[in-house]
Amino acid sequence: MNEANPLWWQSGIVYQIYPRSFQDSNADGVGDLRGVIKRLDYLKWLGIKAVWLSPIYPSPMDDFGYDIADYKGIHPLFGNIEDFDALLEEVHARDMKLLLDLVPNHSSDQHPWFKESRSSRDNPKRNWYLWKDARPDGSEPNNWLSEFGGSAWQWDETTQQYYYHAFLASQPDLNWRNPEVQQAMFDVMHFWLKKGVDGFRVDVMWHMIKDEQFRDNPINPDYQPHESTVKKVLAVYSTDQPEVHEIVRKMRSVLDHYKERMMIGEIYLPIQRLMSYYGTDGNGAHLPFNFQLLTLPWEAPQLAAAISQYEGALPQHGWPNWVLSNHDQPRITSRVGMQQSRVAAMLLLTLRGTPTIYYGDELGMQDVPIPFAEVQDPQGLNMPDKNLSRDPARTPMQWTEENYAGFSTVKPWLRLANTYRRVNVETQKSDPYAMLTLYKRLIELRQSEPSLMWGSYIPVYSDQQLVAFIREASTGSRFLIILNLTHRPAYFKAEHITLEGIVEIATFPEDEGQRIKDYITLSGDAGLLIRLDS
Ligand code: GLC
Repeated sequence: MNEANPLWWQSGIVYQIYPRSFQDSNADGVGDLRGVIKRLDYLKWLGIKAVWLSPIYPSPMDDFGYDIADYKGIHPLFGNIEDFDALLEEVHARDMKLLLDLVPNHSSDQHPWFKESRSSRDNPKRNWYLWKDARPDGSEPNNWLSEFGGSAWQWDETTQQYYYHAFLASQPDLNWRNPEVQQAMFDVMHFWLKKGVDGFRVDVMWHMIKDEQFRDNPINPDYQPHESTVKKVLAVYSTDQPEVHEIVRKMRSVLDHYKERMMIGEIYLPIQRLMSYYGTDGNGAHLPFNFQLLTLPWEAPQLAAAISQYEGALPQHGWPNWVLSNHDQPRITSRVGMQQSRVAAMLLLTLRGTPTIYYGDELGMQDVPIPFAEVQDPQGLNMPDKNLSRDPARTPMQWTEENYAGFSTVKPWLRLANTYRRVNVETQKSDPYAMLTLYKRLIELRQSEPSLMWGSYIPVYSDQQLVAFIREASTGSRFLIILNLTHRPAYFKAEHITLEGIVEIATFPEDEGQRIKDYITLSGDAGLLIRLDS
C-alpha cells in the first residue's frame, strides 16, 4: 500500500448495520432507511468511514433479506428508491461511504428468474439455476447438505428434477457457469455503482461455483452431534472451487470501471485458502473477510499465532482486515465475556488492517435470550435442538433509556435486551468507563496516528496469557499494545529491547497515564495501549 496515500477502505473503519434492527422511523417495529439517515451523525461522531447495509431489497424475508426477489429494488419495509437515494446522498455529504450487500450465489424462489426457470425444462432460464435428475432410485443427485439443515436438493414435481440450494429451499443457487447469469449480476452491480454506491459486501463468495461433476462430498470423520448438520460432510466439492477466482476477477473488473470502489468477500475458509481470494496480482476481492477473531478459541497462544500466520500469508498487495462479530455469529461479549470484550475492542482497533464493527458491539450489546416461541431465524427453527438461532445477535440497537430503547415507538420485531435502560448510546456517551467511550477513544487515536492506521505490525511477545505487539510508521509515534487474554494478573517483560512510554488508553481507565519501563504488571482482563518514547 501507498503510505502517503492510503485508500479510504484501508485507512477507514467499516460499520455493519442490520437494517431491520438499527432504527425504525415509521413505527412498524422494523428498522428502515430513513431511520439509518437519522443516525448517520452518530456514526460520524464515532469515527466510522463506511456503512455496510445488510440486504434491503424486495424479498419474502425467509432468510431476512438474503433471499432476494428483485436485485434492483428496495423492500417497502425499508422504504423506497427515493429513500435510498437520500441515504446515499446523506452518507456522502458526511464524507462517508456506503457498501451494499450483494447476494449473487442464490436468489429467492420468488425471483422472476427462478419462476421462469422452474416453469418448464425448456424455458430459456432453465439453465440459470442448478437442475439435476434424481438418481435411479429417486434419491437426491448427490449427498450435498444445506447450511440450514437437511439435503441441499429440492424435488420439483412439475418438471421432475431436483434443484440445488445451499441454504433454504426458497433460496435456489444460481448457475454461475452460465455466462447469462454472470452478465445479469454484473448488470446489477453496474446499476448500484452508477448510482454512486461505493462497493459491496459479497455474500458467500466461496460458494459461487460448484464442482462441474457434482461429486459426493466426503464424510466428515470429526463431526460432532452438537454441530450444524451441514458439517456431516466436508464441503470440498460444493464450495471453494478453483473456477470461482475467474468470477471474482470479473466482478473486480466491473468495480474497476469506477473510481475507488471496493468489494469485501464473505468467506469462511482457513488462512491459505482465504488468501487466494485476493486474486493473483491483486485482481480479486479487496478484502476477503478475515473471521479468525470470531472462530478461534479466545486464548493468547492461538491468537498470537493466528495473527502472525495471517500477516505472514498475506500477498504483497493484500491489505488485512479484522472482524469480531456479525449477524450470523454470537456477539463478541457473549463469546468471550464482558471484561474480555474490552480487550477484544483494543485488539480489533490496533491490529494492522481494516476493522469491521458490528452495530451495537461498541456498546457491549450482548446476545439476547429469545424465548423459543419468538424465534424467527430459519437456522434456529430448522435445527431446534442445537441452539443455532442467529436472532440473539440481531436485536434492536439500544439508543436511549426510553421505551423500546429509542429504536421504535412500538414493539420491535425482535425483543430488546432487558438491560437497555442502562446499556444504550445516550447513557454511555457521558460515562468514562463505558464500552462506547473505549471504542470512541480507540477510534479517535487510530484515525489520527499513522502507525495505528497503516503502520507495520511487529509481534513482540506472547505466552499463555499475553499478546503484545508494536505498531510503527515512518512518521508519528510508535505504540506498544499489551493484551491480557485471561482474568488473572500477568507480567510482561520485553526480551532483547527496552521499551519505555506512557499508557495512553487502557481497558481499565485507572491504568492510564502510568509510565512504564521494563517489567509491566497487568491486571486480569487488562489491555494497555502505550505511546512509546521516541
Ligand atoms: C450469508 C449471510 C447469512 C445468510 C446466508 C445465505 O452467510 O451472512 O446471513 O443466511 O449467507 O444468504
